[in-house]
Amino acid sequence: KSNKNRAPLDYIPPDIACAADYEALAQAFIPADILAYIAGGSGHDITQRSNQAAFQHWAMTPRILADLKDANTALQLLGQRFQHPIFMAPVAYQSLVHPQGELDTARAAEATDSCMLTSTLSSVTLEQIATRADPARWFQLYFQTRPEDTSALVHRAIAAGYQAIVVTLDAAVQAPGIRAIRAGFQLPDSVKAANLIHQHPDVPIPRNGQSAIFNHYRQHAPSLQQLQQLISESQVPVIIKGVMHPEDAQQLKALGAAGIIVSNHGGRSLDGAPASLSVLADIRQAIGDDFPLLFDSGIRSGSDVFKAIALGADAVLIGRLQLYSLSVAGALGVAHMIKLLREELELCMAMTGCASLAAIRATALQPTLSGY
Ligand code: FNR
Repeated sequence: KSNKNRAPLDYIPPDIACAADYEALAQAFIPADILAYIAGGSGHDITQRSNQAAFQHWAMTPRILADLKDANTALQLLGQRFQHPIFMAPVAYQSLVHPQGELDTARAAEATDSCMLTSTLSSVTLEQIATRADPARWFQLYFQTRPEDTSALVHRAIAAGYQAIVVTLDAAVQAPGIRAIRAGFQLPDSVKAANLIHQHPDVPIPRNGQSAIFNHYRQHAPSLQQLQQLISESQVPVIIKGVMHPEDAQQLKALGAAGIIVSNHGGRSLDGAPASLSVLADIRQAIGDDFPLLFDSGIRSGSDVFKAIALGADAVLIGRLQLYSLSVAGALGVAHMIKLLREELELCMAMTGCASLAAIRATALQPTLSGY
């Protein structure tokens, strides 16, 4: 199957006109079963589809006469300074689509001043990634069955220079995607969770009558105490990813989290959850203007980035476009994709008269009646 797929290019393809074009082009570079796993959501893809559609319900109003002399996309977040708000979401197993996997993504993040969020389930180790390139980097943590394995991951990440821990809480149970199942997707033997290779997770087998799903959830979701302990003992900021409800956001803020990421995991968690964009403004409202809030799920263009910021995000994460551009042209492709998104964002800022991200945050979007 895979020998029908094109090998990654070592140049930027001339036929890419916008960041989103990498999605269509990637179909020639990614085997069909792997593409089904990446592109699909959980269940019937209902949430996955609505994530992208939600952006079309909002319009930006053109403004003229603005002074854009010192216009820029810079921001300060959790004590770090960034040139722009377009970060790379934690995405597992990147060597599924390119032999260099996360190593190339790290090079692209460094070259484009982006921040890379490295997944617990990366296909090369977090240390190798940190050695390959030196972008701003945060480590995404999945709690492990044994508490000592979780602590070991955190210690390794901090020792390797990761500047924040991002705890993903919306994936304690794997929600299967029907598209991936039908395509027969299975992780190839050559692709492994490199950070976890020395661990021996012994998930207890559920006793008769016990639900396998609830049992699995208990093994992989931290208790409130475990989360609180991580937050209070961590030497770096702890951010929580996968927040979709204002009350959860308030509870996490009260618990001492340094920030939250509004996300439905790109439609890969609860199928039937609302579009991530549709809950964003209420969550921002619930936690106040100054609490760090990032957003992901469904972003395919710079105008999507603009709209997420206007509805309350400080910065955004890019998931699937990362894998698509990585499959087409490795580090060069990912860097090109981020550069295009940034230019698309700057174009929107110029034409809406926004000289800064703060100005975008102060901008009201117009609801569209038809969705277009
Ligand atoms: C993900 N995502 C994810 N999130 C996370 O916290 N840890 C992980 O290991 C992964 N792995 C992963 C693999 C694949 C193939 C995809 C598509 C996504 C979710 C990711 O961080 C992000 O929330 C979404 O991808 C954002 O939606 P878009 O940009 O893909 O629409």
